[in-house]
Amino acid sequence: MLTLQDIKLKKQNHSKVAMLTIYDFAFAQMAEKAGIDQILVGDSLANVVLGYKSTREIGMTEMCIFVAAVSRGAPNTHIVADMPYLSDKDPKTALENAKRLLDCGATSVKIEGRPLGVLENLRKNDIPICAHLGLLPQTASDFKQKGKTEEEAQKILEDALFCDQLGCFEIVLEHIPESLGELVTQRVTATTIGIGAGQKTDGQVLVMHDALGMHQKKLPPFATKFANLFDAGVNGIEEYIRSVH
Ligand code: KIV
Repeated sequence: MLTLQDIKLKKQNHSKVAMLTIYDFAFAQMAEKAGIDQILVGDSLANVVLGYKSTREIGMTEMCIFVAAVSRGAPNTHIVADMPYLSDKDPKTALENAKRLLDCGATSVKIEGRPLGVLENLRKNDIPICAHLGLLPQTASDFKQKGKTEEEAQKILEDALFCDQLGCFEIVLEHIPESLGELVTQRVTATTIGIGAGQKTDGQVLVMHDALGMHQKKLPPFATKFANLFDAGVNGIEEYIRSVH
């Protein structure tokens, strides 16, 4: 398993970190066998696995079930677990929920934005944090690129510096200009993981269903399809139906 120190060394050695969202036991086994650096049990599971419109639709109960399944499938891989919407609504609640996710098998937790006093309290209690800045799906009013104006870019940089000084080991940067992804990456000691943040971050993350072609929806502009499991699945099921008939 990549330790927090190994992740830091990767940044120092300019060796990229490959993170992928994974939500269940079978895919966790595949990801570990393939040698993924880190797994993210993202709250995007609300959309891609459970079919909800918003990531706000899931809570701690669902997240714990999926984190535990992934940790059974990939016991030797660093697992980042998303803190669901409102599970970090205040410092005390956030600490209780972060500990629950670690008990379920997560190695670290990911938090969107800078909820008041939450990151400070978690770090005080030695919880490993992956921060998440830029587009924040739990609270965003739209899914447009963030950090395009000087003011927005400055706020993202300041938030990143704040998270870095607190000791967050990693920062996910979602849907921001490449130049801002590069600037944040240069200015922080934390490892930056981009999704729609250009090629200059320390690593990349993709949603598994986009990367493996598991749906028929239009891909976000920054995602690449590395397999076509939707078609493979339909073909396999058709084959099965034919054999039964
Ligand atoms: O939930 C998720 O999949 C995420 C990624 C988009 C980074 O937070």
